[in-house]
Amino acid sequence: LSASVVLDPGSVVAPVSRRTFGSFVEHMGRCVYTGIYEPGHPQADEDGFRTDVLALVRELGATVVRYPGGNFVSGYRWEDGIGPVADRPRRRDLAWHSVETNEVGIDEFARWAAKADMEIMYAVNLGTRGVQEALDVQEYLNHPGGTYLSDLRRANGAPEPYGIRMWCLGNELDGPWQTGHKTAQEYGLLAAGTARALRFAEPDLELVACGSSGSSMPTFGSWEATVLEHAYDVVDYISCHAYYEELDGDRGSFLASAVDMDHFVDSVVATADSVGARLRSKKKIKISFDEWNVWYLSRFQGQPKPAEWDVAPRVIEDEYNVTDAVVVGNLLISLLRHSDRVTAACQAQLVNVIAPIRTEPGGPAWRQTIFHPFARTAALARGDVLTTRLDSPTYQTDRYGEVPVVDAVATHDEVHGDLVLFAVNRDQDQPVRLTVDLTRFAGEWEVAEAWTLTDDDLTATNTADAPDRVTLRPTRTASVEGGTATVELPRVSWSAVRLG
Ligand code: AHR
Repeated sequence: LSASVVLDPGSVVAPVSRRTFGSFVEHMGRCVYTGIYEPGHPQADEDGFRTDVLALVRELGATVVRYPGGNFVSGYRWEDGIGPVADRPRRRDLAWHSVETNEVGIDEFARWAAKADMEIMYAVNLGTRGVQEALDVQEYLNHPGGTYLSDLRRANGAPEPYGIRMWCLGNELDGPWQTGHKTAQEYGLLAAGTARALRFAEPDLELVACGSSGSSMPTFGSWEATVLEHAYDVVDYISCHAYYEELDGDRGSFLASAVDMDHFVDSVVATADSVGARLRSKKKIKISFDEWNVWYLSRFQGQPKPAEWDVAPRVIEDEYNVTDAVVVGNLLISLLRHSDRVTAACQAQLVNVIAPIRTEPGGPAWRQTIFHPFARTAALARGDVLTTRLDSPTYQTDRYGEVPVVDAVATHDEVHGDLVLFAVNRDQDQPVRLTVDLTRFAGEWEVAEAWTLTDDDLTATNTADAPDRVTLRPTRTASVEGGTATVELPRVSWSAVRLG
């Protein structure tokens, strides 16, 4: 098979937003406890954080981290997690049927995020709580001092405000599984009221209203429209959440998951713009795709609720294979392609819970297959996203109809003189010879580096015993001749080619 791409330095979608490479730490399962935090682990630091995990998080290159949930946040009292640890209450977490010890709260997490070099995207509880509690946590986190809650933070060891810029106004309140689930009307009013109040103290915050929990929600579209009718002027972002999995052995459709993500983003943009038009607003709402990943949700939904209330139980510790990694690489291609509107995104989650990093309590930490396309994309995507004119053969899928075999996006960094192409081949049998037309660029190019993730066994995974079974390999087939670059994309593969 063969496919071609035309790139043009003058045809720019938008700058690459560093926040596209975000992640998510929820108080859920073993993401926090025995994930990022495990005092007593041989590699724990003085704060109880696992340094082996911190090293992998830095290697992953994630930039922003959404915290503390997820479904968890909709029943969370942030003040349970401050002050002397011995005095903190143990609480039921209704979202994940477990016990939250509150050993880690926002002060500990902020210390961890600083060590990981990540910006915090903070989610407030708009499930069981409202405007006052959002204002309280804002005062604790962001007010410099001289008031009750800011002085409490100082007394708790953080003299400087945390200066959190991005705030999520609740989580998935369209979902009946959410504690404090609301109608779009109820939520829209609450989100707008909370946003206005937060801005009284800090007008320039970046605020995210909850969009739909998925494009298959019955209220998809109308939820966004109603929420934005109330909150358009006072929020900056509407969120999108999407999880993909291979269902009924239909790998062809699963490999095309990014087609659905493209459609999802385009639909939300169209909905937001139509509200903007009705409001005669010049402002454009951006998208925070603050939960996305491969998640074998159907396996989780088939399990009974745990009988016990445990601390940090093993919940949705999906083990990812080669195909999952190719899909994750492709979802990143889709997010980058939409950089004009999607300027923040969080892979859900970071450690153990549907995560690129896995750990064992007292034992090792390792990279799952999906770690690799994320880390390499975060490291290489720089400068501007270019419009990618792609000519590809197609194939038929049950879920999305006819889709292209190849998907690709390119970034161009004029400062460093880099041009990077990210591409997937979704064909399950044949390689694709991809040619890239570079004639619109001045100067000569050569291959600076090229990497591919694929395997003869598409179900191969990384485990504690074989942590590097699936990894990136140098792409020997990448070359440039004259104004054309060529690379062979193996069947079911993800590749990144950097030209310099
Ligand atoms: O990431 C797992 C869960 O998925 C989150 O808690 C929730 O927001 C979503 O439904």
